[in-house]
Order: sequence, then structure tokens, then C-alpha cells
Amino acid sequence: TKRWYITNDQSVNKNIIEEAADVLRTGSTVAFPTETVYGLGADATSEKAVAKIFEAKGRPQDNPLIAHVATKEQLQRLVKDVPEYVDKLIEAFAPGPITFVLPSNGTCADNVTAGLSTVGVRIPDHPIAQQLLKACDIPVAAPSANLSGKPSPTTAEHVWEDLQGKIAGLVDGGATGVGVESTVIDCTQEMPIILRPGGITKEQLEDVVDRVMVDPALANDQEKPKAPGMKYTHYSPEVPLWVVKGSVDHIKSIIGKEIKAGKRVGVLASTKIADQLDINPTISLGENLQEVAANLYDGLRKFKQSDVDLIICQAFSEEGIGQAIMNRLRKAATLYIDE
Ligand code: TXA
Ligand code: MG
Repeated sequence: TKRWYITNDQSVNKNIIEEAADVLRTGSTVAFPTETVYGLGADATSEKAVAKIFEAKGRPQDNPLIAHVATKEQLQRLVKDVPEYVDKLIEAFAPGPITFVLPSNGTCADNVTAGLSTVGVRIPDHPIAQQLLKACDIPVAAPSANLSGKPSPTTAEHVWEDLQGKIAGLVDGGATGVGVESTVIDCTQEMPIILRPGGITKEQLEDVVDRVMVDPALANDQEKPKAPGMKYTHYSPEVPLWVVKGSVDHIKSIIGKEIKAGKRVGVLASTKIADQLDINPTISLGENLQEVAANLYDGLRKFKQSDVDLIICQAFSEEGIGQAIMNRLRKAATLYIDE
């Protein structure tokens, strides 16, 4: 695996982008930063290139990939018709952490869409992703650049840990930013339907379109999710994770019990709650929900079997980006303890 390091020197970076774009154009895989998480890219029009992504990640074949493009014009080249509300959403949020599921016109390979008649398309808002997509001038299929089942990568180091030796290249552009993946929206119906909460919040969407629906499967385990990827175990740390809702005293008493029973417990919490819990080891995820989103996957990856037997994480507010945070934590958790 070739690892390129983005620098402060634009002429060096230009060469890196050209080389990485060449690797993509010739049918190999390159991991690169986006504003959400690192993606593992391959030519979305080539079934053979896309197969390398599934192989490297160990990804189930029935889970479709998102096609990444640099501009709205390029998006339009992959889909049949774009409803009016999609124009509004693109205007408001693209480039950005939002993915539009639209009827495919067949440009993307069958394994990108996992045989569905729709394709998910996203215009990422990260200078490196933008430059790379412009340089290679092909749609780039890119799931998160982690081994299937593990937390998504928010640093190049995370990608290296999971995929070194399994992919052709990695563009190292430092930490990503938003920290949780894009919001996936089904745009094949009269109104947009959120299939996966993410970087653009429901509240933000509602400011732009009259009504926003939410896939019922997000609130109810019995329903089959419309985004195939949402049914899999995901984001799992090395050790069991308990998510605990409620007061600091409630969380503290649960941690206390486990420590008494002989378990080595690691804590994930906001800075404020972490200070009040006062448990060692603790990874503080930040002051507010934005910071928690940015630090969550790194926190989940940092606790290793050699250090702890159990991770206990506080439950967060489900407002704004909190929806995406709690969606990921519920999936990652082996146990959810209510108040
Ligand atoms: O922020 C992101 O979206 C990142 C970066 C790299 O762009 N990508 C990402 O990709 O999270 P991935 O493959 O880890 O998640 C894609 C999600 C899955 O839940 C998948 O099932 C859903 O989007 N999806 C993709 N195409 C779809 C389609 N045609 N219909 C329904 N769901 C789709
Ligand atoms: Mg993923």
C-alpha cells in the first residue's frame, strides 16, 4: 500500500492527487479523506474495480456503495430524474455530508448498487476529495475505509490499521472533521426519507423542504431498513460496549458495580460528565455534540482488549447531530441500559 502525505506545499499535493487519480483510473483502490470519514474509492463504472473494495473490506455483497462525484452536473449523469426537492437540497447542502438515493441510469456498475434500481450519490465537501474527484473525472464508489463491522475511520491511521496491504493507496490528509457519515436520503418518493441519520440533521433538512420522513426501521428493530447497510452489526469496538442513559449518579452506580465485580472499565463521555464520573481510564469526547461526533469513532477504537474488559459510554441527546451519534452507538452497543 502506497501512503501519500498531504503537505502545506500545493505543488507537492498536486502531484499526489495526480498519482492517486491515476491509480483510481486504472482500476485500483485508493483510500482518501472526506469531511465525514475516510472513504475507500474505486472506479464506480468498473465492476472489476468495485469488486476490490468488497474484497478488501470483507463487505457483504448485498450492501450497496455510494458513488462520489465533484459536481451537480456529474451527479446528474448517474441518475434518471431528479425531483424538484433534490435541487433544493443540493442547493442548500452540497457539497456536504448528504447522500441522495435516486433511480440509477445504469452508468454505475451493478455491484455499486448491489443490484438495486437506485444509486446513492454524494458530493463530498473536502478539498482533497474534491481535487481527487476532479482529477480522475470518473464517479468513485467509496464506502467507509474500514474493515466491515469496525468503527469508521476518521484518521489515516485508522485506515492503515484496517487495510494496510489490502489496498493500492492511501492519501493521508489528517483527521476528517464531521466524524460521522453522511445522511442517506431516499429521493425516489414524493418526500425525502432519511435512511441513515448523519452529518446533515433532520432539523436542517426541514428548514429547506416542507416535510421530511424517517425510515420507520430507524426507530423500530422489527422493521427491515431500506438502506441495506443499516441492518448489519457495525462500528463495533474490540471489547463489549454498554451505553447508559440517565443521570451521572445512575451511570456511576453501574460503573461501580462492574468494577467491584472485577472488570476493567473504560469510560467514554462528554468532558463535563467525564469530570463528574472521575473514572480511570476515561476518554473525553468533547464539550458539545459536534465534538463528540468528531471524536466518537476514535474513542471506540482506542480502548483495546489489553486495557479494558468493558466500555461504558453515556447516552447523548438526540437533537441535531445527536441523532447520528445515538444511531451509531445503539448499533455498536452490546447492551443499552435505560434510566
Ligand atoms: O459519509 C459517508 O457517507 C461515507 C464517506 C466515505 O462518503 N461513506 C459511507 O459509505 O458511509 P458506507 O458504504 O459505509 O455506507 C453507505 C450506506 C449504507 O448503509 C448503504 O446500505 C446505503 O448507504 N446505501 C447506498 N446505496 C444505497 C441505495 N441505492 N439504496 C439504499 N441505501 C443505500
Ligand atoms: Mg461504513
